[in-house]
Order: sequence, then C-alpha cells, then structure tokens
Amino acid sequence: MKLTHDLIERKSALLIVLVVLVVSVGGLVEIVPLFFQRSTTEPVAGMKPYTALQLAGRDIYLREGCYGCHSQMIRPFRAETERYGHYSVAGESVYDHPFQWGSKRTGPDLARVGGRYGDEWHRVHLNNPRDVVPESNMPAYPWLAETPADATHIERKLEVMRMLGVPYADADIAGAKNELAGRTEQDALIAYLQVLGINIKSKR
Ligand code: HEC
Repeated sequence: MKLTHDLIERKSALLIVLVVLVVSVGGLVEIVPLFFQRSTTEPVAGMKPYTALQLAGRDIYLREGCYGCHSQMIRPFRAETERYGHYSVAGESVYDHPFQWGSKRTGPDLARVGGRYGDEWHRVHLNNPRDVVPESNMPAYPWLAETPADATHIERKLEVMRMLGVPYADADIAGAKNELAGRTEQDALIAYLQVLGINIKSKR
C-alpha cells in the first residue's frame, strides 16, 4: 500500500488519530513553555497581594456577579489601549485565584479602573449608578453600604491563598480580622476596585 493522502482521507479512524496527534503536539508546544516563562509566572514589578479588605471585596465582586457584565482583560489592540490603558499582562494575574479576565462586556473593562475615580464616586455609583452616569443600565447595589464586611472566614481565606502561592506573611493573616472590623461590604469592594491594574501606568 502506497503512503499517500488518499490513504488518510479514506480511512476516517486513521484521520482522527493523526488529527488528535497533530493538535496535541501543537497545543503542548504552545502551552508548556508558558509554565516556565518568568513573564507569565512572576508578578509584575511593585505588585502586592490583596490586603484582607481587598480580598473580601473581591469575594463580593464574585458574589454579586460583577464579572457577568465586566471583563478584566485589556486586549493588545489600539481601540482597547486608547480607552482603558496598557493592555493586560499575565504577571498582573498571578495572585488572582481564580482570575477574572472574562469576555462579557455589558459595561466597560475594569482591569485598570483602580485610581480612575475617587472612593466617593464609587460610593455614589454603587448606591445608584444613574446618579453619576444618567444613561447607565448597571444595577444599584445599595445594600453593600449597610452590610458589615463578613470577617468570619477571612483568616482561612488568606491561608488558602497562601497555599495557592500568594506570599502572605503570618502577620497579614493574624491582622486580617482587625482590618475588616467596622468596614462595610461597600468599603471592601471599593478597596478592591481601587487596586485593579495600578501597577502598570500608562496615559489614557
Ligand atoms: C447588568 C450589567 C452590569 C452589572 C451586573 C454590573 N455592572 Fe458595572 N457597569 C455596567 C455598565 C453598563 C457601566 C457603564 C455605565 C456606568 O458607569 O454606570 C458600568 C460601569 C461600572 C464602573 C465604572 C467603569 C468606568 O471605567 O467608568 C464600575 C467601577 C463598575 N461598573 C463596577 C461594577 C461592580 C463592582 C459591579 C458588581 C457589584 C458591577 N459593576 C456590576 C454594567 C454592569
């Protein structure tokens, strides 16, 4: 039997086996090196792990499903970098378990929203987005301002993050409950929003 395309194209089982082989080798060649590249495994310069308050805020972000309308991934296209700032890099996500890249954008990308507005703007916006952006269709989250931040499991949460590779010191964990004392869920969420993407500066 001569080894020609004919053989492969007529035998679907052989075709499937060869396709799987080619795709797996191609996939591995693209993916495996990423595990060993510093640019994908090391935090960008100046990046600190989330404080207990910021981490609690991140959990509220997840609980409220903010990711359903907001991505945190600026793609390297002119239209995106002009609007949001420097494109996202892998080293910005190394402390995020799980990351919040997403792709659904009913609202704007939030990867670099940190520092874009003052805390007070966020308070008004979260209580009722229409008060600052009249045409907004973002839901209001007024209860966050009245609900105390839940510190019950915060130490455990930091410990788990440490297990996943986030470099928390014992003192961070010991001080976690204190950091949340007297703070609302809104305080926590705003603390989280205000650190998003601040380590890579670029003019917007
Ligand atoms: C139903 C979709 C939707 C959900 C859910 C949603 N948002 Fe929004 N968000 C929007 C839209 C649309 C805008 C743009 C108009 C505005 O600023 O209100 C926006 C704007 C924002 C902005 C301002 C961004 C900028 O660069 O101007 C922030 C910050 C924000 N949202 C945070 C949140 C947080 C935090 C949550 C979860 C508690 C959330 N959003 C949930 C739709 C949504």
